[in-house]
Parts: sequence; C-alpha cells; structure tokens
Amino acid sequence: MQHRTIGDFAVSAIGLGGMPMSIEGRPDEARSIRTIHAALDAGVRLIDTANSYHLLAGEVGHNERLIAKALKSWGGDASQVLVATKGGHLRPGDGSWTQNGDPAYLKSAAKQSLKDLGVETIGLYYYHRPDPAVPYADSIGALVDLLDEGVIQRAGISNASVDQIHLANEILGGRLVAVQNEFSPRHRSTEDTLQECQRLGIAFLPWSPLGGIGPAKTVGDDFAAFHQVAQAHGVSPQQVTLAWELAKGDRVIPIPGASRPESIEDSAKAVDLVLTAEELARLG
Ligand SMILES: NC(=O)c1ccc[n+]([C@@H]2O[C@H](COP(=O)([O-])OP(=O)(O)OC[C@H]3O[C@@H](n4cnc5c(N)ncnc54)[C@H](OP(=O)(O)O)[C@@H]3O)[C@@H](O)[C@H]2O)c1
Repeated sequence: MQHRTIGDFAVSAIGLGGMPMSIEGRPDEARSIRTIHAALDAGVRLIDTANSYHLLAGEVGHNERLIAKALKSWGGDASQVLVATKGGHLRPGDGSWTQNGDPAYLKSAAKQSLKDLGVETIGLYYYHRPDPAVPYADSIGALVDLLDEGVIQRAGISNASVDQIHLANEILGGRLVAVQNEFSPRHRSTEDTLQECQRLGIAFLPWSPLGGIGPAKTVGDDFAAFHQVAQAHGVSPQQVTLAWELAKGDRVIPIPGASRPESIEDSAKAVDLVLTAEELARLG
C-alpha cells in the first residue's frame, strides 16, 4: 500500500469512509465489522468517521463505536491506523442534518468522541461544516483549545472555502493539517481548494469521491471517459476515479465509503493504477 501524510502521520493513500455503515441503508453490525477488517487487511490505515454518522436520535457516535469495536477485534497494530472524526454537524433523527459551531459544544462533542472511540487522544479532529450562526474564527478557536489541551493531536476542517482554509490555518498558527471537501467527477467545483491545499502542503481528502452513496455505482455510466479508461485497464470505473483523484496531487487522499468488503478491497487497488498523461487529460 502506498502512503501519503497527514501532518506527521503516514496513512494509506486511500482511506475508508465509515458513513454508509451507520446511516440510512446501513448493513448489520457483522457485515460492517467485516468491511472494516477487509479495509485494514488491504493496507488501509485511515478511517474517516464523525459523531453524526448515525440514524436515530440517541445514537450519536454510532459509527465511532463501530470503528472502535472493529479495531479492537482486528489482529493487526491499531496504533498505525489514523481514525479521523468530526464535530459540528448533527442529526436530530428525522433524516435531516443540522449545524452547531458553538465552541463550547465542539469541545464537549470532542470529549464525547474520545469516549466513543475508546482513545485517550483523537488522532485527527475536523470542524465538520461551517455554522452560519457562529463566527468561523470562534469555532476554529475551539480546535486551538482542543489541540492545546491534548484532546486532539491534529486539526482539520471540512466543507471549507479557500478563504476559510487561510483563516483556519492562521488561527491554528499553521497547524491545519487536513481539509475534507466534496470532490468527484460529478462535483468538481472544489478543485480550487484541492489546488490550494496542494500548494500549502495540507492534506486534501475528497469526500464522496465516487459521487456519493448511490451515484457511486454508476460513475462509469454517468461519465463515459471513466468507463473507457476502466475498460482499457480491465479495472472498475471506481478504481479509475480514485486513481484520477490521486493523480491530482500528492496531498490528495480519497476516502471512499463502503458497506461491503468487496467495495473497499477494489477501491484500495486504485493506489497501484497508473494512468497515462493522455488518459488523465481525457478525464479532466
Ligand atoms: N465531511 C463531510 O461533510 C462528508 C460528507 C459526506 C461523506 N463524508 C465522508 O466521505 C466518505 C465517502 O463518501 P460517501 O460514502 O458519501 O460516498 P462515496 O465514497 O462516493 O460512495 C460510497 C459508496 O461507494 C460504493 N463503493 C465504494 N467503492 C466501490 C467500488 N470500488 N466499486 C463499487 N462501489 C464502490 C460503496 O458501496 P457499498 O455500500 O455497496 O460498499 C458505497 O456505498 C463517507 O463515508 C464519509 O466518511 C464526509
């Protein structure tokens, strides 16, 4: 497995997104554990989660607890796995997603994530989504406090603009190590943030890198060039999609979601798929 870095931590160039295992359409726990173990056995050393990856009210931290359980029952060295979680996005239990960027809330949410992950310090903690009701600088201030208190080891932001990346990095005193934004063949408008992270040496993690739960299955039908390049290499269009993202820059670390072992096993192979300059030009 090839590696890339998030701050000082070497992770696999492809991570595992945990969301499909805890929200609408989630599988039973046994299949989720098999999926996480399959990722780890394939060399994946980055797992993405959030306290809001759950379905019902009263289930906050469902995905964090699932990942903690899977890591505990895995035979390998869990200290080499970076588990990244997030706070600031909430699910009231009616299917909607809401925001809370209040610094006091973020700090208490991170402390609850510590418990749900079963760790003494969180390897990477993101502010999940800007809350329009709270000044961005105040929310990022909570990350500064969490870093200084040792509750979290590394800080990231998600769903951020170029200006917010600059502001967060300034408030964090240059300690912003990761930006997680939506990026895929169907969502390219964030490429400016990808390029800025590449320039600044900050890890860029495309979320919904295959287009999201559902559209991920038809990325080859929806984007002909990805289908054609996949056929030429005898691989899945999903692998081509992830290899195209990896080729955008050495700071890019896609985190495809999975609820089945076969999905992440196939996705992890994208690190070894080398696309030609002509193919990359066709994919855009
Ligand atoms: N920061 C944010 O605001 C934010 C928002 C959304 C998501 N995320 C994170 O980003 C992660 C990825 O996004 P996502 O899960 O929404 O969408 P995605 O990664 O674009 O798509 C996930 C779906 O892709 C399928 N899949 C994965 N690899 C495949 C392969 N090689 N071949 C065929 N199908 C494959 C999976 O199917 P199966 O279920 O059948 O395995 C899964 O349902 C999430 O899990 C979450 O951790 C973050």
